[in-house]
Amino acid sequence: MPFNFDEIIDRRSSDSEKWNYYDADVLPLWVADMDFRAPERVIRALQERVAHGVFGYGGCKQRLRETICARLWRMYGWEVKPEEVVLVPGVIAGFNLAIQSAAGAGDGVLMQTPVYAPFLGAPRNAGARRVEVRLIQADSGRYEIDFDAFESAIDETVRVFLLCSPHNPVGRVWTKEELERLAEICLRHRVMICSDEIHSDLVFSGRRHVPIASLGPEIARNAITVLSPSKSYNLPGLYCSFAVIQNPELRRRFLDARRGTVGEGNLLGFVAAESAYRECDNWLGELLAYLEANRDYLAETLRRDMPGIKMARPEGTYLAWLDCRAAGIDGLPGEFFLKQARVALNEGKGFGSGGEGFVRLNFGCPRATLTQALERMATALQVAAKA
Ligand SMILES: Cc1ncc(COP(=O)(O)O)c(C=O)c1O
Repeated sequence: MPFNFDEIIDRRSSDSEKWNYYDADVLPLWVADMDFRAPERVIRALQERVAHGVFGYGGCKQRLRETICARLWRMYGWEVKPEEVVLVPGVIAGFNLAIQSAAGAGDGVLMQTPVYAPFLGAPRNAGARRVEVRLIQADSGRYEIDFDAFESAIDETVRVFLLCSPHNPVGRVWTKEELERLAEICLRHRVMICSDEIHSDLVFSGRRHVPIASLGPEIARNAITVLSPSKSYNLPGLYCSFAVIQNPELRRRFLDARRGTVGEGNLLGFVAAESAYRECDNWLGELLAYLEANRDYLAETLRRDMPGIKMARPEGTYLAWLDCRAAGIDGLPGEFFLKQARVALNEGKGFGSGGEGFVRLNFGCPRATLTQALERMATALQVAAKA
């Protein structure tokens, strides 16, 4: 049965943060969850578990670890053993624990900006220091890595490189060659890699996600990778994520950092993850086709109706990074679109250096919602241009 991603589901009358944070006349294309129902099989698995009615401590965690390993092999040819999988509630918790297990007061944590905002505060949570290196934009608008700048940013205090792969917000799916170069530099400087690969399944035609730790045993020994089914199957409120840590020493330190803080996750999250990873490849395939069509529609609409806004087509994720610097907007573009178009986007400056003048737009929604938001944005720009 084909899945109906065009269905408009009323989320404002639900507990949705995305839909209830702003006034009722605002269309929310900000926080990274999608406006689609989770796969029916996941919903059915949850219903069956809820019908049991008893929610004591537990969960089929060993089976879930095995399911995760089978899927990492099926999707990425990455060989992981169940004991190398550590369950954590969320990816943010996972990368914070990874940093806390490897860096402390005075140490540096390297990251490539602009980047997902919770990266920026993570070093401070460990008493460490953020070290930023800017991604650079080619003339096409596509972001690339300046490897010389990357290596120069590493001094003897830098302990961890926090990688975002695929990259939120710039939409790059890093190539094997790019990842190999990053990993080689980190190995040479004894910098541990913590790779946030939450968007790994959301990759469009012509691109392939490569887990950085799958590149070789030496790199695997130097990496903690944090993943989740939450973005791929739209389950973020269920909080089920995991870290792959193949080096026993890094795993021990990670478990030490976790002790007494967060647990492994929650029962319903485990049930949903198990079903998503076992039974929902078809759903994911159709979702990707829908998202890719939304991405292309967005690119065409911007080109036709808002030529002052530039966007390099995202290679993955359902997040678009719009360069509004030549759009004739006074002040912050996110504020402008919120006030003048009643569309909520993420303000680019929240993504660290290089984010000023940009907004992030979430196109994980029915086409009709995207169309309405883009019409409002185009009209607001036209009105501003006449004023
Ligand atoms: C790169 C990245 N990491 C982590 C998260 C959030 O992860 P979690 O909700 O599992 O903590 C997001 C959500 O947008 C994200 O884009």
